[in-house]
Amino acid sequence: MSNQVQLQMDKASESMNGGFTDYYQNMVDYFHQNPDQNITYNTFSNRTNRATNALISEEEAIFYIVAYGWQHHQSMQHLLTETIDMTAEVQESMRVVDYGCGQGIATLAFMDYLAQKGLAQRIALEVHLIEPSKVSLDIAKLLIERLAIVHGMKVSIHCQQRTLDSVLLPLNSECKETFHLLSNIVDIEAVQVALPNVAKQLKSCTGKNFLFATCPQYDKAQAGFRILHQQMDFAICHHDESWNMTYQMYRVIQASWNQHTSTQRMAMMSWTNN
Ligand SMILES: C[S@@+](CC[C@H](N)C(=O)[O-])C[C@H]1O[C@@H](n2cnc3c(N)ncnc32)[C@H](O)[C@@H]1O
Repeated sequence: MSNQVQLQMDKASESMNGGFTDYYQNMVDYFHQNPDQNITYNTFSNRTNRATNALISEEEAIFYIVAYGWQHHQSMQHLLTETIDMTAEVQESMRVVDYGCGQGIATLAFMDYLAQKGLAQRIALEVHLIEPSKVSLDIAKLLIERLAIVHGMKVSIHCQQRTLDSVLLPLNSECKETFHLLSNIVDIEAVQVALPNVAKQLKSCTGKNFLFATCPQYDKAQAGFRILHQQMDFAICHHDESWNMTYQMYRVIQASWNQHTSTQRMAMMSWTNN
């Protein structure tokens, strides 16, 4: 990693004073002002198979945040806001499992959601991150630790650098509630193949469990949601919507801020084990 990129990663994470939005803005500013340092859309897309392969460098991680970060954060926040009310019965501790977490955007959205509800300082979060890319996993850990300080949250982080076919879920916990986040991964073929193994373990997780899955609605994602529903037949599906999400974001190809609309599919399920 070049010194400039290292410096930027530190600067952007330290800029997070209100939430993930600050990190995104800071990364966009850097990306826009330093075109010579950036990977092109084609290079990124070809190497990562449209962001589905594990990232191998911080330069790819920066491109990913600028191109997709805001959309992924906003869709998870929308799903949380639409489907749960955590203020009704506040738990002292909660567990979050982020599957194929990448740079931890879904967990960061969850933390921002708790902060917006005024709950951040009342809940201790046990975070489990599962991700094959070491680069992404290291960034996720850094950002979650930083955001925890910003929001005044107690957080413990447990990382598994691996793919879902070999994952071992933490089945038992002191926490009475677990939030399972599947953000933009159900379209990945290897994830779809691993879903039966994951679902089998999910069924045994103790306490109350909630699963949140989001992905842009296209054919591969639709196939992933079908498999998810089949494998999770023990859970109650509370919500499954296709949402036309319109938002301001930086478009890497045009190198400018634009209003963008994309259709996101999002599902929420729950089940309980005593
Ligand atoms: C589109 S990214 C989504 C990242 C993050 N969840 C988000 O919403 O920004 C897909 C992620 O899945 C990871 N991945 C790819 N194959 C995987 C597998 N077999 N098991 C677990 N994760 C996988 C990639 O490394 C990448 O971080």
